[in-house]
Amino acid sequence: MKTMNLPCVILGSLSGIAREIADQLVRKGTPLVLVARSAEELEIQASDLKIRYGITVETIAADASELDRMSSLPEECARKLKGGNIGCVILCWGVMYPQGEAEKNTQLLKQTFDINLTSSALVLQAFANKMSHAGGGTIVGISSVAGDRGRGSNYLYGASKAGLSALLDGMRHRYHGTGVRVITVKPGMVNTPMTKGIVNPSSPLCASPIKVAADIVRAIETRSVQIYTPEYWRLIMAVIRNIPEQLFLKSRL
Ligand SMILES: NC(=O)c1ccc[n+]([C@@H]2O[C@H](COP(=O)([O-])OP(=O)(O)OC[C@H]3O[C@@H](n4cnc5c(N)ncnc54)[C@H](OP(=O)(O)O)[C@@H]3O)[C@@H](O)[C@H]2O)c1
Repeated sequence: MKTMNLPCVILGSLSGIAREIADQLVRKGTPLVLVARSAEELEIQASDLKIRYGITVETIAADASELDRMSSLPEECARKLKGGNIGCVILCWGVMYPQGEAEKNTQLLKQTFDINLTSSALVLQAFANKMSHAGGGTIVGISSVAGDRGRGSNYLYGASKAGLSALLDGMRHRYHGTGVRVITVKPGMVNTPMTKGIVNPSSPLCASPIKVAADIVRAIETRSVQIYTPEYWRLIMAVIRNIPEQLFLKSRL
């Protein structure tokens, strides 16, 4: 199944990383279904892409906290498309609240897991069911290096991403050989609205969303199953994961 020629669904299409993915995919001729919260912002994004590249771009306004709606999103997307075939779905939505605030505010803590994990599991499982029935497709989940080891400074977000990474690993195993491919994406620090005021955008460790999107699009085109982006995060996280616990406890990561 040629993913790039079939329509691609982008969940959370207004995110900094997703905007770049959308741009790079339409330049390759991939029709899109964009899913995000704001109908007005979606219309602006879709019109811009259609005008610049003359390609089909459909939109669906949906909030990931509408958990009961997640299982029907693949059908909603298919109804927007002639033929209903979906080649690829890319999960980009996510929230990261300051650790100190989420520790004290149960609403923020709950939302961290509702958006990053529960809604993601519901919607991706529904896409997997649909794709396996149709004979194939590609599922891409943007997780995070933060899920590789719990750290005091960001463990609630990290735990939600660890859950997402395990979900994607398990789905890849479950659907192996069925034509449904599952790709886990683990970005390091990326210069987007999520990290504004937290990460220094001129730090050599802070990547541009253009670079991260290019790595994701390349992973879809090749046989990748799990990528770190930029790739040097694979080595950084191997070191962090292997720091002995007693030493790790004394660090302030
Ligand atoms: N930036 C980084 O350093 C970094 C590193 C590792 C992983 N990631 C992951 O990469 C993905 C994309 O993030 P980003 O960096 O591009 O940040 P971003 O620009 O802040 O994007 C986050 C997106 O999530 C959407 N969202 C939040 N709550 C939602 C809800 N209830 N329903 C639907 N959409 C919702 C937001 O929608 P609105 O536009 O409506 O606000 C926003 O577009 C996230 O999963 C993030 O965890 C980012």
